[in-house]
Amino acid sequence: MDKRKNVSTYDSIAYEYDKLFSAPSCHIKDLLRYVEKETAILDLGCGSGNNAVYLSNLGYNVTGIDASDNMLTIAKNKKSHAKFIQGDVSQLNFNNNSFNCIILSYILCHLTNNQVSNCLAQLNHILQDKGILFIELFTGELGEITITEPLNTTLTTDFNIIRIEDMETMLGANNFEIIKTYSKPETEFGWPGVQDTCIIAHKI
Ligand SMILES: C[S@@+](CC[C@H](N)C(=O)[O-])C[C@H]1O[C@@H](n2cnc3c(N)ncnc32)[C@H](O)[C@@H]1O
Repeated sequence: MDKRKNVSTYDSIAYEYDKLFSAPSCHIKDLLRYVEKETAILDLGCGSGNNAVYLSNLGYNVTGIDASDNMLTIAKNKKSHAKFIQGDVSQLNFNNNSFNCIILSYILCHLTNNQVSNCLAQLNHILQDKGILFIELFTGELGEITITEPLNTTLTTDFNIIRIEDMETMLGANNFEIIKTYSKPETEFGWPGVQDTCIIAHKI
């Protein structure tokens, strides 16, 4: 998993990505049932801010983190009170119990299984008791793959297609309990055997 290459790809496609994925995540309204208004939400790998801006405009206190400069520039130019910071999801620097909810929307698919597990361990400290984790990811049997970037076919992106059973095990091992799982049998990209999965979990 080449993080620098991935982030450089996202830098190159940021404006096209934002046009294509401008709407908030389709399950975000379900998330709101579990998170009280005006509480603190961390959006990791926030991209161009589709979820962060939506939640900020609903009155949540949102911080977005992403490694791509261009994604963050687009996010900051949108009208909201969300705070956007450049950073790496594997090296977070927040105090314990800082957030009521953490969003991981299509970011875990750019980490290895080991990195996912380490990330979940960090998030358990940053989240308050009973805090909510909202995860969107691609699941299936493919493991680590390199794909031609659909928005710029001269570039590639590395993905980790995680087995749902492995994701469940990693969540349990890091003291998260799954509340709900949604799974669509296919992704926007039509990758064979890959599901588009959303998991809402809480810290136990
Ligand atoms: C598929 S996009 C998802 C963006 C947004 N969450 C969404 O749902 O539209 C993945 C994002 O993760 C960011 N990213 C990839 N690796 C990262 C890392 N190690 N740390 C922080 N951000 C990273 C990329 O720059 C990109 O903006």
